[in-house]
Amino acid sequence: MKQATRLALAALALFGLGSAGASAAPSLERGDYLVNTIMGCGNCHTPQGPEGPIPGMELTGQLVEKSEAFTAVAANITPAGRVKDWSDAELARAIREGIRPDGSVIGPPMPFEVYRGISDDDLASVVMYLRTVPAVASDPGASQYNIPLPPAYGPPIESVAAVPEGVTAEYGAYLAGPLGHCTVCHSPIGPQGADLANNLGLGGNHFPGPWGESVSANITPVGLSGYSDEQIATMITKGMRPDGSHMLPPMPYGFYANIKPDDVSAIILYLRSLPPKG
Ligand code: HEC
Ligand code: HEC
Repeated sequence: MKQATRLALAALALFGLGSAGASAAPSLERGDYLVNTIMGCGNCHTPQGPEGPIPGMELTGQLVEKSEAFTAVAANITPAGRVKDWSDAELARAIREGIRPDGSVIGPPMPFEVYRGISDDDLASVVMYLRTVPAVASDPGASQYNIPLPPAYGPPIESVAAVPEGVTAEYGAYLAGPLGHCTVCHSPIGPQGADLANNLGLGGNHFPGPWGESVSANITPVGLSGYSDEQIATMITKGMRPDGSHMLPPMPYGFYANIKPDDVSAIILYLRSLPPKG
């Protein structure tokens, strides 16, 4: 482990994790798992070619969304990007709170409304992993926001306790929210972000792209009542409906293919427990 990483972990630990024994200590393995499955950072940060993610260009950044409101370019977050000059604590804050070391705010659509709930342990694991990915010097360009960005996405965060891992609706909520941002894509998005408070899981967001246009589905019990758990699991991890038809991007099926079966089960338990909407 790099000295800097060890120091940052010590710094994070100082904030008081309040989670002794609740889950494993931060690890590279956990960071690798999170980034490359449920968190799917590469769905936005890895350049896509006609065949999918461009090999050798993982996490080097790309244009994510262009609209009247903004041109959002996800940054190069390999150790060759701007992040190389940031301490681990600074990188952690950028990911969880959306604030860079110079105080500037990271713009949408990176889902800070839920990333603010990433536990200290998982955040440390993600940072640890990002320091180890191949450094690829590549400049994806800069974002331009024609809308004012908020000064921050909320008050400064001191500490977020770990959620005990298990096939529980509670851990499923953590996977589908803070880690996977399923809830963001699947709740109506307005100028204030996704309406998690009133319309959690209702769906209805339009995603234009090279695939045409997809609309996020209702994933409350109203939308999912006709599916068995197994069918829902197949839709999440294979992007395939019970009739064999393939589902459209930008849901990151390629990343979800390797989510642990227990984690998929926890997510489904959670979705079944949502207040029915729609
Ligand atoms: C929905 C798309 C999306 C997802 C998912 C996403 N990001 Fe981002 N990210 C962006 C965009 C767009 C920017 C640039 C915003 C700007 O220019 O202000 C960005 C910026 C960043 C930055 C700031 C880098 C810099 O040089 O300023 C970091 C660090 C970062 N992302 C890390 C991550 C990590 C780690 C994950 C996964 C846990 C992740 N992002 C998931 C879209 C995304
Ligand atoms: C980047 C946005 C995005 C993310 C992240 C995302 N989804 Fe989706 N999801 C979509 C879209 C768009 C569709 C519709 C695809 C289609 O119509 O082909 C969809 C479809 C679905 C469906 C199919 C429902 C049906 O009735 O057809 C399920 C189930 C689902 N998502 C669950 C999830 C879960 C669980 C997660 C997190 C682990 C997740 N989604 C993350 C955008 C997203």
